[in-house]
Amino acid sequence: MNVYINVYYLLIMAKLYFDGDAELIRGKVISMIGFGNQGSAQALNLRDGGFNVIIGNIEDEYANRARSLGFTVYSIPEAVKRGDVVVMAIPDEVQPEVWIRDIAPNLSPGKIVVFLSGYNVYYGFIKPPKDVDVIMVAPRMIGEGVRDNFVNGKGFPVLIGVANNYSGRAWDHALAYSKAIGAIGKPGGVAVESSFEEETITDLFSEHTWAGAFLFLLAEGYNVLVENGVSPEAAMLELWASGELIAITKAIVEKGLFAQLKGHSTTSQYGHLTWGPRYVTDEVKKLMREAIRQIKDGTFAREWALERMLGYPVFNRLWDEIMRGRVWQDEDRLYRALGRRK
Ligand code: NAI
Repeated sequence: MNVYINVYYLLIMAKLYFDGDAELIRGKVISMIGFGNQGSAQALNLRDGGFNVIIGNIEDEYANRARSLGFTVYSIPEAVKRGDVVVMAIPDEVQPEVWIRDIAPNLSPGKIVVFLSGYNVYYGFIKPPKDVDVIMVAPRMIGEGVRDNFVNGKGFPVLIGVANNYSGRAWDHALAYSKAIGAIGKPGGVAVESSFEEETITDLFSEHTWAGAFLFLLAEGYNVLVENGVSPEAAMLELWASGELIAITKAIVEKGLFAQLKGHSTTSQYGHLTWGPRYVTDEVKKLMREAIRQIKDGTFAREWALERMLGYPVFNRLWDEIMRGRVWQDEDRLYRALGRRK
């Protein structure tokens, strides 16, 4: 029986890469299109690693920041013309229009286009030409982490994929770029062989299920504690403001999702094990499957594209409701008292 289970897992296990040959792209001009969360972190890592990075940006505060850090900033079309490797480091929802206007007309055969997420290629919002390599190097890490890990000599996980293998070496190029930004070749670093499709589905799935639910569950927990006579300060510190969550998350990463529970008191362990599963109701299980259905059939992607076209009406209304709501207001008072907000 065990043999069958092991064979099954061997068949579905992804290929992991811990190193790559960054020399493949060392002599090339790397055009970082965008200097935000990912763009700035990756550009700084590349420059520190001795790679030739230029920035392509619209004239805004991000361009100024890049200049103040000593980078040469070009318009996006000019940076695409000059680059051998073109990195798409602007928000997913603005990429299609920038692609059509500024990027596609300036690509020439043999260039390497790097996407940091699978989104636009998977949904067909961007259709790259056949005569360039189209690769994905998607960090499982916010930009700050990409930079901090690099500075501390550590790597970080990335999902890699290939949508166009014009050179025949696109996978090597994905590994080379992963190595060049400091993701692999260092402790903690790994590149997981994946695809534009898998990256998009898994990323959106997290955002549409546990990650969003987690925030709103904590907010509801706050309401319940306060309703029951707990002070706002005590409730908020218990639920998220103390930083205990950081220690738990760290233990999850280092020891494992359930293995970290052994570090809690036995009372806490018993409470987790009896009450935890009760929240995963049949309705929640159905909802998670509905979420993935709407991701796979493009319902969410179309909704988000329409939202951008209309000027973000739902997005802005939801933010407005949150910021006028009790949790935000009470948190504001506590965080000011604690010196975390001005
Ligand atoms: P961001 O929101 O930080 O991007 C800001 C940059 O986009 C700035 O340089 C700005 O000038 C440029 N920009 C904004 N609107 C523009 C427009 N209309 N036309 C031209 N340029 C415009 O983007 P972020 O979060 O770094 O995301 C970039 C890519 O990285 C996306 O594909 C995202 O999915 C991926 N990614 C992001 C992660 C993160 O930590 N935020 C994690 C992993 C992947």
